[in-house]
Amino acid sequence: MVGMDVLVVGSGGREHALAIGLSQSESVSSVHCAPGNAGTSIVATNHNIPVSDIDGIVNLAIDLGVSLVVVGPEAPLVNGLSDMLRGESIPSFGPHSEGALLEGSKTHAKTVMESLGVPTGRFERIDEIDSIEESLDSFTPPWVIKRDVLAGGKGVTVTSSREDALDALRNAIQTDGFVLIEEHLSGEEASVLVIMDESGYVMLPASQDHKRVGDNDEGPNTGGMGAYAPAPVATPSVLARTRYEIVEPMHHYLRNSEVPYRGCLYVGLMIDEDGAPSVVEFNVRLGDPEAQVTIPLIKSDLGLTLLAAAQGNLAEFEVEFKNVHAATVVLASEGYPGNVSSGRVIQGWDSTIDEGQVLGFVHLAGAKRNDSGELISTGGRVLSATGIAPTLGEALDASYQIIEGIDLEGSHYRGDIGFRALP
Ligand code: AMP
Ligand code: GLY
Repeated sequence: MVGMDVLVVGSGGREHALAIGLSQSESVSSVHCAPGNAGTSIVATNHNIPVSDIDGIVNLAIDLGVSLVVVGPEAPLVNGLSDMLRGESIPSFGPHSEGALLEGSKTHAKTVMESLGVPTGRFERIDEIDSIEESLDSFTPPWVIKRDVLAGGKGVTVTSSREDALDALRNAIQTDGFVLIEEHLSGEEASVLVIMDESGYVMLPASQDHKRVGDNDEGPNTGGMGAYAPAPVATPSVLARTRYEIVEPMHHYLRNSEVPYRGCLYVGLMIDEDGAPSVVEFNVRLGDPEAQVTIPLIKSDLGLTLLAAAQGNLAEFEVEFKNVHAATVVLASEGYPGNVSSGRVIQGWDSTIDEGQVLGFVHLAGAKRNDSGELISTGGRVLSATGIAPTLGEALDASYQIIEGIDLEGSHYRGDIGFRALP
């Protein structure tokens, strides 16, 4: 069989994981990335077109004659990349712009959930600075304040300090014109990535991200500091409830919308003490770093799996999983998640572990080569060290062994990834 040519859009660790998974697929003969990063350049051909250049990406897909485009980040989806690709008869893994509103507008996502009876926290939209005190009083602390903009997981403030809450409300209204306040959900978080199209859906093994910057979940929210899968908090009973209370109604809604949803619906869950799941957020793409620990668990050909969803015939395709565990630990630049220092040399990132059933390697993200061929940091999350092994403990050991050997001035990583799942 002549393999497909596939274009991956994006430049993070998630896209490196996608490019690796696709390059290992029998169905795929070449992988291209736009713009990609230093990691994707190892397994794919990078094309220097930013994700904001939607026309440029569509033209690239046409020029390359690809059989499939896999869109990593949310912004191009919200901006209509999949709509345009489908207009050119190019299958795209990633929803059309209307479907992408589930992430692009938290107000829209909440309204859809309310109308379907999907469990989620109560929320209120605030437009007037004059009413912030009153709105704060109608919720109990800790307060959850969300800007309704694409902010890479950083537009959320969770605080028990009234002063900080009022500041966050004021700042958001001044910047965006409005803000959301949401009921605080307690419990343990998990991410369930659901590949779906109008014909069916597949729930991938649940993972757990670590959103706070510091150990013991301290400090501000980030895009994600590390993850592991499968996450044992998502017990069979939690997963069954997630399927019937959340995924089924969402699938029914999305398959019946005018243009069906084809891509990944990321269900961010809060699981309470009784094992009841509620939705913290929807994303319209694979998570980052969840993709780095979920893609390696897929046994089926990744190219064919994503193509099936992009073409609307997922129901005819059986997706199988490997019986292994994966963990990834993010290395972030000095200052992340605030203003970061970039342009520093990264050393020791290319060592790997290959001991039969235990693998360890790096997914690169905010990293590029300089003119002398050195790898330098270019962003907040620079890379993540990933381990794949028969047990979570061994996967974490491999990740930490790799990350401890990496040198990047001022960088930091969490030392407790996976702590909730370990005895
Ligand atoms: P979001 O951007 O909506 O995913 O929020 C980022 C993070 O903030 C989540 O992963 C949670 O850790 C936290 N968070 C968001 N909403 C809530 C909520 N309603 N209750 C508790 N924590 C939340
Ligand atoms: N890791 C969280 C996200 O991808 O949104």
